Amino acid sequence: MSPGARARIAALRTEIAHHDYRYYVLDDPEIPDAEYDRLMQELKALEAAHPELVTPDSPTQRIAGAPSAAFGEVVHEVPMLSLDNAFSDEEVAAFDRRARERLEQAGPLEYWAEPKLDGLAVTAIYRNGRLERAATRGDGFKGEDVTPNVRTIRAFPLRLRGKAPQVLEVRGEVFMPLKSFERLNREAEARSEKTFVNPRNAAAGSLRQLDPRVTAARQLRMYCYGLGTVRGWSPPGRQSEMLEALKAWGLPVCPDSARVRGAEGCLRYFREMGERRAQLAYQIDGVVYKLERLADQERLGFVSRAPRWALAHKFPAEEAMTRVRAIEWQVGRTGAVTPVARLEPVFVGGVTVSNVTLHNFDEVQRKDVRVGDTVVIRRAGDVIPELVRVIPERRAAHAAPVELPKRCPVCHSQVLKPEGEAVARCTGGFSCPAQRQESIRHFASRLAMDIEGLGEKLVAQLVEGGLVRSPADLYGLTAAQLEGLERMGEKSGANLLEAIERSKRTTLARLLYALGIREVGEATALALARHFGDLDALIEAARSDPAQIEQVPDLGPVVAAELHAFFAAPAHRELIERLREAGVSWEKLEPRAAALPLAGRTFVLTGTLPGMTRHEAQEALSALGAKVAGSVSKKTNYLVAGEASGSKLQKARELGIPILDEAGLRSLLGAHRR
Ligand code: IVH
Repeated sequence: MSPGARARIAALRTEIAHHDYRYYVLDDPEIPDAEYDRLMQELKALEAAHPELVTPDSPTQRIAGAPSAAFGEVVHEVPMLSLDNAFSDEEVAAFDRRARERLEQAGPLEYWAEPKLDGLAVTAIYRNGRLERAATRGDGFKGEDVTPNVRTIRAFPLRLRGKAPQVLEVRGEVFMPLKSFERLNREAEARSEKTFVNPRNAAAGSLRQLDPRVTAARQLRMYCYGLGTVRGWSPPGRQSEMLEALKAWGLPVCPDSARVRGAEGCLRYFREMGERRAQLAYQIDGVVYKLERLADQERLGFVSRAPRWALAHKFPAEEAMTRVRAIEWQVGRTGAVTPVARLEPVFVGGVTVSNVTLHNFDEVQRKDVRVGDTVVIRRAGDVIPELVRVIPERRAAHAAPVELPKRCPVCHSQVLKPEGEAVARCTGGFSCPAQRQESIRHFASRLAMDIEGLGEKLVAQLVEGGLVRSPADLYGLTAAQLEGLERMGEKSGANLLEAIERSKRTTLARLLYALGIREVGEATALALARHFGDLDALIEAARSDPAQIEQVPDLGPVVAAELHAFFAAPAHRELIERLREAGVSWEKLEPRAAALPLAGRTFVLTGTLPGMTRHEAQEALSALGAKVAGSVSKKTNYLVAGEASGSKLQKARELGIPILDEAGLRSLLGAHRR
């Protein structure tokens, strides 16, 4: 055997362990993945040539052993406890008060605050620095021996760095990062296999595999947060120092933990994590507060199965189960007939949810939602609640599939769903009160005619009472008519009339947007106004030669067809006439000559902007005539770079192209907007 091979094998193992440490513990990889793979390949090749040099703690031996028939049982020498839960600020304050009383401490206590990772608790024993055994929590006293599986988790060092104690039992959470979870489910879907409901189930399912090769493929991670049996080492005095020591041994700890003071500090941390939650790479279901001083932890001890020195402060559950009472159809401004599930009210994500939109008929069919079904509702952060799935096991035998209504539930006109389109529409147009109501609401909205005080309830009253049938009727309303309405005093009536009067002086862009033409959003309306300068020119083009519309930067045949159809309808032309007669007016612009301020300029967007979506940025730029291109070249005038910008940013720098951040973009947009 060549002495060179032995030395090289040792060097490679040390180097690989070093890169695992940089990657999993310091979160600061030094080398690209491909280089890491190369080191691993070299080690594998050397070990294959010298099998006598293979040791169990070699990184090539993470997957070792054949699938087993069952898991062995492990008795925890120190039981694995659970945590008491708190759901409110008051409970946290009470926990802190009790701790101070018990410790007879007058001033604020220090806590170590950590994310409550949504995975499964695992304990691992290192004897003389080598990973010997790992087990699940089980019932807290006895768990399952999952050593071969835990060995495949690269975040778990097979050997501790530096001088390790005789026995070190570390405890932590094994979890699946969200990216890996999504990938796993995507792959399962592609193979038409069952997907995992959430990352916690995926982590548990992956760890409790009889074949460690399956676990190895699952990209599990781990963060340590506590100790079990320890021999040959006395832990330092603080939770934070204890974790630092684990980190120095090469064990990963969560980087998002923090030291805080008093209940106030705990609550501040809770809110901060609540806000950061959606950006974290892993799923959490709350935070955990632990007394920072280990001596205090010892003095407080345990009650039944939970420590008195720690508390889990949970976020409101993001998913809950409830029952579908009914499925109703709502008619929107453009006649879209949208299914809405009426639910038995359920508290989820911090609010009570009693309705969720099902978006369209295809979605109803895809999810196969039926009246009476038990369903899972999800509301994460401020995201609109959604119906995740039906629980088919709980479906009543007689539950019938939902059918698309043939007639509009409001005006009874025919409902049509064109082949290949997801949306079904009421064909009643303005004769449908629902569409009427929605179009008037849109007409009055802030970005349209901006009639202050004309909200949803008031519009409903006006339409239902027959006072307003078309937006033009708003301009004929009288004080006497308004007084007759519910909750409408003399003063608010006068205010509303004043707001209506004020709205008459507007811009062409606002008016076009207010008309509620399909496909004409705010940015398109602005582009049309700038291009044509006046309404008559636009109407003329739309009616006689829609191709002219396609001359407007970024507008295509779809918008052209919608404008053609809209202005071809006599009812719409009459509406415009009536608005003009009522005194609605706008300043004419020089057609096109007032070429759009950013015409001829090319922008490229990269990365995420903190305060606007890519779509919004794109729309705003195109409305000002800019071209938004996909890749950076010499022709690019500006690069708008958000967070996590990569190669485009680099290329722009190389080419000396000006780079804007969101603030820069906003000020540029602001300078050209009117
Ligand atoms: S400490 C004696 N810290 O929550 C203290 N647990 O509800 C024992 N968990 O079984 C646990 N993140 O699976 C602790 N930062 C964290 C945690 C955490 C998640 C889990 C763990 C435990 C359960 C208790």
